[in-house]
Amino acid sequence: MWYTAFMEFTTALMAWYDRHKRTLPWRGTGDAYAVLVSEIMLQQTRAAAVIPYYGRFMNELPTVEALAACDEERLLKLWEGLGYYSRARNLKKCALAVVNEHEGRFPDSAEELKKLPGVGPYTAGAIASIAFGEPEPAVDGNVLRVLARLFEDGADVTRQPVRDRWTDFLRDRMGSRPGDLNQAFMDLGSLICLPKSPLCHSCPLSSLCGAAKHGTWDRFPNRGEKKPKRQEDLTVFAVRSGDSFLIRRRGERGLLSGLYELPNRPGHLSREDIGQALTELGVRPVGAWEIVTREHIFTHVIWHMQVVRLTAPQVQVPGYQWYTGAEPLPEAFMKCLR
Ligand code: ADE
Ligand code: SF4
Repeated sequence: MWYTAFMEFTTALMAWYDRHKRTLPWRGTGDAYAVLVSEIMLQQTRAAAVIPYYGRFMNELPTVEALAACDEERLLKLWEGLGYYSRARNLKKCALAVVNEHEGRFPDSAEELKKLPGVGPYTAGAIASIAFGEPEPAVDGNVLRVLARLFEDGADVTRQPVRDRWTDFLRDRMGSRPGDLNQAFMDLGSLICLPKSPLCHSCPLSSLCGAAKHGTWDRFPNRGEKKPKRQEDLTVFAVRSGDSFLIRRRGERGLLSGLYELPNRPGHLSREDIGQALTELGVRPVGAWEIVTREHIFTHVIWHMQVVRLTAPQVQVPGYQWYTGAEPLPEAFMKCLR
């Protein structure tokens, strides 16, 4: 098939990358730790949003040893607002393994990197290729979108065997600059081959691309059947006193574990039940409360929040504390305060 002519694609793509690649703070360091941190941050977050977090993180924790020694709450504070907090915890587990089992030096092959906690095939491929020059693909959603469109390939990219097939396909065709080729796919996917409206007229691959030729880009990639998210109602209490507000630490398990939360109750409480809940909390509002609604979308669940906003004196509330700025408070609750 035309797969054999893939060199034409990679040559055109690399020429484009050399002219148009994004200047990103983690590029050009060649440091495996820097690549790890950036790739984990980039897994569910756009590059523009990652940049300030990455800078702060590398300032505070510049080495794998520093990360391994960092306490969890400080780490979660550095991650605050990025979401998908299990990434931060896995990152620390990985740092501990590098320090304790590899004398602080990252293994230099994808095969060994994959054995580190929290390092899957994508991250291993990114580190191996970008930091160590190993011809190993790093296949993420961007890469799969570009490939599926180029070849009008309708296989379901959410299935691991399909991802493995593309990984094997690319591995034999990485050329002499594997780290750059991987990042060229990522840049093409985030600058040109956009999910909703690809800029085929500016694409270096358009003359070679099946989807561009037939106008079929919106059929690719096939992302399978999406499971509907669970919908949850809750009532959140934004209890303010001056510029502080009432919080407590969540449990050690489940959604947003180890982070802080505003007081909350399941369901959308009636006005009467809100009054009751405030009495239970031991919070006595000064003036009237107002109610606003906020929504937050997680991976598997959507929270529909009824937010009760009120002012109260800064008294001791058993089980709760007043926010000082140091506690990691997830975006779901932050938006209740705005
Ligand atoms: N997305 C994931 N990894 C990336 C990288 N190294 N450069 C740009 N975008 C990315
Ligand atoms: Fe994507 Fe269009 Fe380029 Fe094909 S030509 S790879 S669909 S941007």
